[in-house]
Amino acid sequence: MKLAGKVAIVTGGSRGIGRAVATLFAQHGAQVVITSRNKSEFEYSKNILEISGDIRKTKDVENVVKKTIETFGRIDILINNAGILPKIKPLHEISEEEWNEVIDVNLTGQFRFTKTVIPHLMKTSGCIVNVSSDAGLKSFENFEADAYTASKGALVLLTKAWAVEYAKYKIRVNCVCPGIIETDMTKPWLENDADRAMAVAEHPIGRIGMPDDVAKAILYLASEDSSWITGAILPVDGGAITK
Ligand SMILES: NC(=O)c1ccc[n+]([C@@H]2O[C@H](COP(=O)([O-])OP(=O)(O)OC[C@H]3O[C@@H](n4cnc5c(N)ncnc54)[C@H](OP(=O)(O)O)[C@@H]3O)[C@@H](O)[C@H]2O)c1
Repeated sequence: MKLAGKVAIVTGGSRGIGRAVATLFAQHGAQVVITSRNKSEFEYSKNILEISGDIRKTKDVENVVKKTIETFGRIDILINNAGILPKIKPLHEISEEEWNEVIDVNLTGQFRFTKTVIPHLMKTSGCIVNVSSDAGLKSFENFEADAYTASKGALVLLTKAWAVEYAKYKIRVNCVCPGIIETDMTKPWLENDADRAMAVAEHPIGRIGMPDDVAKAILYLASEDSSWITGAILPVDGGAITK
């Protein structure tokens, strides 16, 4: 029970990594609010509350935070996890609309949630975990997703900036950088055996990741076990970034 009495918001909590985080947090005693545009297809335990919203809309973000406070009276943890991956194509072929869409969800969306939640974290000496990516640390051949790379790279440095900016309020801000994780986002790359073998080969540990691998790292960064850690960028990637 590492999170007994804590209240957490997990953006993009309806599927994939966010769902694994919400489930693990609830098992550790937290009250968890998950948010996404569409309702989750999964059954959740009674200490997970779903509040729909689009991270691109300030009003929706404010509504999620307002309802969390009305229901639980406090916020201790924000997991900035919601994200989208665009169609893979070279920079000179993407439109400004495609670029803006990815930045709006993956970067400005994290700004919207962080800005709205910070005043509540100031009261609880809470913490934030940002979900970036190995793609925010290094460029990968054939991974032509420039707006995604820009958004994830920005989140890495913003983690350090927010950690320094809010340390005086005892708010910790850390970041995980997953390698390839088996979720809806990566389905198109894992459909046939050859693609899957290539993905596995990227990871020295010899397998791709599961949502739980990331959730366990996020639990550590959100719990008192990491109470003296802030501004840390943690690859969760079976060694992919070290190759
Ligand atoms: N899977 C990987 O290999 C991998 C690797 C590195 C980093 N990551 C990062 O990990 C995070 C989670 O990825 P995942 O693989 O779990 O993805 P996923 O299975 O596709 O889930 C994405 C989540 O984000 C939500 N979301 C998307 N657009 C949204 C919007 N406009 N407003 C609110 N919620 C929105 C989705 O719900 P709705 O669509 O219903 O809104 C869903 O809950 C992302 O930030 C991703 O970039 C993933």
